[in-house]
Amino acid sequence: MTGFSRQGAALVCDGVPLEPLAAAHGTPLYVYSAATIADRYRAIDDAFGGYPHSIHYALKANSTLAIIRLLRGLGSYADANSGGEIDVARRAGFTPAQIVFTGVGKTTAELGYAIDLGVRSINVESAGEIGRIETLSRERKVRTRIALRVNPDVDAKTHPHISTGLKINKFGIPLGAVSELCGQMRGRPNVEIVGLHAHVGSQITSMEPLARATRTLVALAARLVLEGTAIEHLDIGGGLGVSYDGSPVPGALDYADAVLPVLRESGLHVVLEPGRHVVAPAGALLTRVVDVKDDFVVMDAGMTELIRPMMYSAYHRIEPVMLREGATAPLHIVGPLCESSDTLGKDRAIARPSVGDLFAVLDTGAYGSVMASNYNRRLMPAEVLVEGSAARLIRRRQTVDDLLALEF
Ligand SMILES: Cc1ncc(COP(=O)(O)O)c(C=O)c1O
Repeated sequence: MTGFSRQGAALVCDGVPLEPLAAAHGTPLYVYSAATIADRYRAIDDAFGGYPHSIHYALKANSTLAIIRLLRGLGSYADANSGGEIDVARRAGFTPAQIVFTGVGKTTAELGYAIDLGVRSINVESAGEIGRIETLSRERKVRTRIALRVNPDVDAKTHPHISTGLKINKFGIPLGAVSELCGQMRGRPNVEIVGLHAHVGSQITSMEPLARATRTLVALAARLVLEGTAIEHLDIGGGLGVSYDGSPVPGALDYADAVLPVLRESGLHVVLEPGRHVVAPAGALLTRVVDVKDDFVVMDAGMTELIRPMMYSAYHRIEPVMLREGATAPLHIVGPLCESSDTLGKDRAIARPSVGDLFAVLDTGAYGSVMASNYNRRLMPAEVLVEGSAARLIRRRQTVDDLLALEF
């Protein structure tokens, strides 16, 4: 079994003990299992089997260079959500034709950059954005490939902050407006509609909304083809969830079972943009106890290293790296910041720890380090990748000099 498990009392990553990693690199420290990332990427790839598909890993989940290089090596392409992510993808070796560019508020500079590169497709969010792409492409005398991000009005039944497919959300073009828009765009020399795109939310653990959004795209594509717009691909976004509490959730096979029969009706190439499902369980945040008082265990990591618990009331398992003997009691595991919301976990049944004890916040490979901040002038954590029996530093800890290098 790859990933995080117990060897006796000690928590290990792919058999590599965590305590020496924390001792060598300090805490807070992100540790990732390369084998888990590979297993989970391949599970999706295998589940879609012979059906024409490409996996554009969503960089927003975790874009540390070594992680995305690893994914590129496995055959993944990239989904970028900003000019910065396009740059990072390119530095990791992805070619423009391997990048789709998504985002609800792309600036003119970002659009110009993507057009100049000639990315596989820009997933457009509005008629206004198409107009801007058309102007920029005309100036450059090029034809830009776009996919229309459709808002299918599907409830992803996930946390409201990561639900994106409802009419009330800011994302995409209303379903009812797509056909007319395609009619207007037909035959235009500088913009070519090549695909339809939908992403209805993240951490989705019911396959029904994903299947429904796919069905909407398939039906829409069939109609558009009849009306004269040739659709090359359907981009069904990301969103497949993971289990944060150990209870069973649908996996890659369930996902493919839900969407493949629908996709087969179209025969169209499918683009997948998974993020969380590939990397979340592959990462853990290591953090040491700095104080214990009353019911509070104060850690050296908090909302600056992992904001998910504070932002989405997200639950993460938090485990001592070395199991301790003794009675357990419900304790609050909190961060060091001067914010009451800076709580990693409430009422966790653990044996009362001592200062210096090492804990692991599990399933933090996605939307963990990428959302870290320098609030309180705290420094970005280091990151380590476990590959086989070896572990290497893939991102050094930020220094105050790094921070102040931007200031005058
Ligand atoms: C357009 C788009 N694609 C893909 C993803 C990745 O989603 P997830 O990490 O849930 O797979 C996101 C994230 O919300 C997104 O906005």
